[in-house]
Amino acid sequence: MIFPIVLDEVERHYGPVKAVDGVSFCAQAGEVVALVGHNGAGKTTLIKLMLGLARPSAGRVAMLGQDPADGDVSVRKHLGYLPETVSFHPALTGRETLRFYVRLKGGRRGGEDALLERLGLAHAAGRRVGTYSKGMRQRLGLAQAMIGEPRVMLLDEPTTGLDPELRQQFYALLREMQAGGTTILLSSHALNELEGNATRVVILDGGRKIADGSLDELRRMARLPTRIRLRTADGGAPRLRAWMGEPPGLRQINGHIVEIDASPEDKAAFLRRAAGADAPFEDLDMMPPGLDELYAHFLAQRAPR
Ligand SMILES: Nc1ncnc2c1ncn2[C@@H]1O[C@H](COP(=O)(O)OP(=O)(O)OP(=O)(O)O)[C@@H](O)[C@H]1O
Ligand SMILES: [Mg+2]
Repeated sequence: MIFPIVLDEVERHYGPVKAVDGVSFCAQAGEVVALVGHNGAGKTTLIKLMLGLARPSAGRVAMLGQDPADGDVSVRKHLGYLPETVSFHPALTGRETLRFYVRLKGGRRGGEDALLERLGLAHAAGRRVGTYSKGMRQRLGLAQAMIGEPRVMLLDEPTTGLDPELRQQFYALLREMQAGGTTILLSSHALNELEGNATRVVILDGGRKIADGSLDELRRMARLPTRIRLRTADGGAPRLRAWMGEPPGLRQINGHIVEIDASPEDKAAFLRRAAGADAPFEDLDMMPPGLDELYAHFLAQRAPR
């Protein structure tokens, strides 16, 4: 089986700067991989290496089984790319802009209107791009990346500038492409929205990969506590605390809510006890660590350089 994306000990130096430093990973068809990391962590450089816009200083990149930086660039037709900052000619209309990119990619004409419709831009197809809002330009960028139904989508901070509703629509679009077997790699600083949308998260720091896995896998690796919040009748918090045995770290939020942070082992033991008929609470919420907490954890754990 050919992995759509293969990186093998890839390095990219710019003078003394190691923008990418020994990164390896493979992505399968239908995966949605999120690249996260601080500013300057190497996300954009990694995407450029996958596109063949930059060559590795060492190591190997293979996209759909081919070197994307090879002189014979047939593989690039199958790669869709949304750059970090999209800029279009302001005097062209949305439709003309897409037509331009279809020609550039050697694709078949037609279909531009269907793409604009899919991205919710049909009403503005004949308007000059210079009059588009930021979110509209971003969607046009995405439409441009989707030309020719690429098998791999490389999206550099695609949700920047999108309002919450458009973000939801964007992730719904990704799910459609994913269901069709497209491999998607996106970089993002919006950690919370990746939960439930990325099948896998790769954390970069200083050009190195410091963690890689699904949200569940990262949670298991990090072994961070789960926050358990218990609610009882008004004024019942002291009774609840006594029943819990006043464990260290217990927090009383108000007269009827208390919280504890439970390690993975304590969580199971606690839930068994909480299932008893004498448990004095009315409601229970469990909040596993979010991606922002996991991210902070892995950065704090990284080896000193
Ligand atoms: N063409 C270049 N010439 C010199 N240095 C570069 C070049 N491209 C990237 N770098 C450096 O490589 C490092 C990684 O940059 P990169 O743009 O990949 O980071 P990033 O993770 O995309 O950051 P951001 O979140 O700010 O977009 C930075 O230190 C950057 O200054
Ligand atoms: Mg970047």
